[in-house]
This record gives sequence, C-alpha cells and structure tokens, in this order.
Amino acid sequence: MKIKKAIIPAAGLGTRVLPVSKSMPKEMLPIVDKPAIQYIVEETVKAGITDILIITNRGKGLIEDHFDHSVELEAVLKSRGRSDTLSELHRLANLANIYYLRQKETRGLGDAVLRAKEFIGGEPFAVLYGDDVIIGDTPAIGELCEAYEKYGKSVVGIKEVSDELIVKYSSMKISPLSEKVFSITDMIEKPSLDKKFSNYSILGRCVLDNEIFGILEHTPLGVGGELQLTDGMKEIALKSGMIGVDFSGTRYDMGNKFGIIKANIEVGLTHPETKDALKEYIKKLAETL
Ligand code: UTP
Repeated sequence: MKIKKAIIPAAGLGTRVLPVSKSMPKEMLPIVDKPAIQYIVEETVKAGITDILIITNRGKGLIEDHFDHSVELEAVLKSRGRSDTLSELHRLANLANIYYLRQKETRGLGDAVLRAKEFIGGEPFAVLYGDDVIIGDTPAIGELCEAYEKYGKSVVGIKEVSDELIVKYSSMKISPLSEKVFSITDMIEKPSLDKKFSNYSILGRCVLDNEIFGILEHTPLGVGGELQLTDGMKEIALKSGMIGVDFSGTRYDMGNKFGIIKANIEVGLTHPETKDALKEYIKKLAETL
C-alpha cells in the first residue's frame, strides 16, 4: 500500500537546546539558510508524500508563517527585481498540503503521534521527527516507504551508534535480511549497556501500520513519565515483527547543541554561497587549534 500521509511531531520542549528553544521551536533552527523543518518537509515531498500534519505547541505561528505566503515580502522582492528569491518563496509556500494540530500537553512523542489518529484515518503513515534532519541523494523516508511496500510491515529507520549514544536512544534486536535491511523482533528505549540488544537505534523516521493508535491508547507512560512511541512500536515488533532500514543519508540531531553546529558546518561546506569561504575559514582556524 502506498504511503500518502506523514506526521512531523514538533511540539517537544527542546530542553537540551535551551535557551534558544525557550520562545521558538528547535525545529525552526537554521541549517545555513533553511530551518530544520523545511529540510524535513522537502524530504517528505521528494518521497511523493504531500499531505503532512505538523504537531505543534508554542511557537506554532513561526512554523505556519514559514510555509505560508508573505504578501509584503513578496511585493518588495518583486519591486526590486529579485525574481530568483521570489520564486523560491513561492515554491516554499506551495510545497505540500500542510496541516497543523496542537498537542495541548507535552506528554511525549507517542502522545504526539496519537493526536494524529483522526487525520490519518485507516492508512499506514510516515513519521518524521521534527528535530532529525537527514540529508542525502535519496529521501530517507522514501527508502522506508519502499520497504513497507515490499514487506507489508511497519518500518523504522536505523543506524549503528556508539555505546555512549545507545543509552540515550533505543536499541534494536535485529537479524539481517539484506545489506541494509533487517528484521526487528524486539526493542528497548534508553537501555543500560547490559540491557542493549545491539548498537542499532531508531533515528528519526518510521512508517507505521495503523494498529499503532490502538496500541498507544493502552500503552502506559514510560521513560521520563512520557508516552514513548518506542514502547508502542515494541508491541508491534513482538507481535508481528518490524523492518529496520539502515538509510543512506547523513542524519543531524538538531535537538542537541553539537548536532546543530555539525549540520551547519557540513551543509555550509556544500552550499554554493558559503562553501569556498567556509573552507578557507576552517583551514585557517584549524591552524590555531
Ligand atoms: P525529543 O525527545 O527529542 O524532544 O523528541 P524533546 O522532548 O523536545 O527533547 P528534550 O529532551 O527536551 O531536549 C523528538 C521529536 O518529537 C517531538 C519533538 O518536538 C521532536 O521533534 N515531540 C516530543 C513532540 O512533538 N511532543 C512531545 O511531547 C515530545
């Protein structure tokens, strides 16, 4: 079955990147000249999904304004003959059918996904975490959708991470199906090292069967007193198995300070307007370190 709808949860408190996230969502943090969430919406659209629900809370206006027309700005650009920038803004305002829903209490990623039940209806759907940007030639969520279509099971995007990170993320019990595709039969959220299954962790993308909503409705609150999406997915993994796809792009965690800096340096080194100057700057700076 083709995946037609996506959810982007963007209602977290972003406590790891305070104070910047105090009055603006971390999903609006820039990577060079675009906010994180724009990369994510563009990835979704590239994968052929055009109905997107963004789960928001505070700072909702900023995200809505970003994907809307700005009549005043467009008039100024037109009068100044800036047709390239103008058409870029038009493209941005017409990227996809974007809907918004407020998560009234920050009760965890699982709760944010559960809010989307009515929007999704009876179909499988994609979830792209709003602070995980993945940059690559092929859209990561497209790779997951292909796996869903092939295996007919819920799919998560996975990558191997260090021991230091696995205790902060989730750990998958996996066996290989092909070079980049795995079967997942169990998982654990934020495991201690003696409880980890493997160093493969879910990183920011999944395609879920509709049954997740029924499961989340009876899943007890987990780590941090929040409704954990991983706890709901674990039930699917135990019952019918899931698929893990080691996606091909590079993932940047915009929910942590070092991730934000890395994203800006690496994307800055490929951006036509910044790459040459940034390369020179980094070389000079490195001599002083
Ligand atoms: P995180 O766990 O990284 O978000 O959730 P957080 O709670 O903002 O992080 P810290 O630990 O306080 O820094 C992953 C994604 O899920 C969204 C976040 O906005 C982020 O994009 N999320 C999280 C929600 O939409 N609602 C929630 O209740 C929690």
